[in-house]
Amino acid sequence: MQNSREYVAKNKERFLTEIIELLKMPSISADSAFSQDVINTSEMVGKALDEAGCDHVEICETDGYPIVYGEKIIDPNLPTVLVYGHYDVQPPDPVELWDSPPFEPVIKKTEEHPEGAIFARGASDDKGQMYMHVKALEFMVKTNQLPCNVKFMIEGEEEVGSVNIATYVANNKEKLKNDVILISDTGMISKEYPSITTGLRGLSYVEVEVTGPNRDLHSGLYGGAVANPINILTKMIASLHDEDNHITIPGFYDKVEELSSKERAEMAKAPFDLNAYQKALDIESVYGEKGYTTNERNSIRPTLDVNGIWGGYIGEGAKTVIPSKAYAKISMRLVPHQEWEEITDLFVKHFTNIAPKGVKVKVTPHHGGQGYVTPIDTIAYQAAAKAYETTFGKTPIPQRSGGSIPIVSLFEKELGSKSILLGFGSDSDAIHSPNEHFGLWFYYKGIETIPYFYKYFTEMNS
Ligand code: BES
Ligand code: MN
Ligand code: MN
Repeated sequence: MQNSREYVAKNKERFLTEIIELLKMPSISADSAFSQDVINTSEMVGKALDEAGCDHVEICETDGYPIVYGEKIIDPNLPTVLVYGHYDVQPPDPVELWDSPPFEPVIKKTEEHPEGAIFARGASDDKGQMYMHVKALEFMVKTNQLPCNVKFMIEGEEEVGSVNIATYVANNKEKLKNDVILISDTGMISKEYPSITTGLRGLSYVEVEVTGPNRDLHSGLYGGAVANPINILTKMIASLHDEDNHITIPGFYDKVEELSSKERAEMAKAPFDLNAYQKALDIESVYGEKGYTTNERNSIRPTLDVNGIWGGYIGEGAKTVIPSKAYAKISMRLVPHQEWEEITDLFVKHFTNIAPKGVKVKVTPHHGGQGYVTPIDTIAYQAAAKAYETTFGKTPIPQRSGGSIPIVSLFEKELGSKSILLGFGSDSDAIHSPNEHFGLWFYYKGIETIPYFYKYFTEMNS
């Protein structure tokens, strides 16, 4: 019987042409100017699922963008794998920093990807990775090797907080019933060191507005006598970290899971080259919370970061003005046990408290979500590890990631299912940044590896 490696080798060119077509679609969920493109993309995904061998495909309407659902049920007594992914992408801005247009995919070789990588918005996050699952299904169906039932749920609002899918999941528990959820929307260490993502951080995202005087003022006539909201806002933001880079919001760390020194020692075994890391980012030194390593700072520790800040005059030349308002967008990455809504409340309370007299502060919470940890003592994790052993010839390293996929903890709450995060991206993929790309080697390796998960998971369950 043909194995997945042979099938990939035979169909390589077609697999590439197909993903290129999908990447041409500007499915930017954040920008309503692209709403028709997002909807058209959902139809393309539905068609791809149908062609790959699903028996039943549905484009499910929501209050936002549609969810593409597909299934192939071969025997109700066999296990069911639910695949989750997203077909929406981040806005490509700033477009001028792209070497080629974000929705005109090109293949180029890079230092990390000597076999070539596809450059396009969504190549790695998440169209390329999601599509590996569609092609893995095609392989299993076309070669009669699908060992269990499969359901797909591909959404179009992940990059804007997965708000409507939460309702969809709550209302479709029976339909979405499964034994494990499979997601490829994260990364791995490298070809040489395959890893499986075992943790995601939670998120709380807020926007703040500081108002000083009721109108913009002449900075000579009024300067020094009234609060300048930009001066105040930056001061307030600076006070959110102390000199050890701990976050100063009272109660912020109360529920943070502290890892044992044994667990931390285990984590520290993962290969990491600090010099290469610094060099890749062109920084002289890393920076962060005292007492923790870089890999800890970006995975098991919570953070607070300003994502954008604006106000006042930013046009050409100089304008002497004290602005009436200043704004910032702030994200907090959270770790297991921190409740995102509680953290949002703590932020609102603290930020309002530290505002001096003379300004008004308004905090508007945006979306958020819980962190997640995948247990590694489960059949599902063992099956995933064995799949990587088969195709990489190495046992994967469990590794927690710093990113967030809020829906994952919701799956556990609503469906009682654990998620396995088979990420095939690389840190250097530039997701959310200009020149996003996805290594072809990883794309093909993903398609090759996924079917083994189905095989081992089904075997281990019987
Ligand atoms: N796929 C990413 C999350 C990710 C990437 C996790 C790499 C781990 C490794 C996802 O599409 C994403 O960007 N999530 C957002 C959160 C969302 C609520 C907008 C994030 O992490 O910023
Ligand atoms: Mn993603
Ligand atoms: Mn993303």
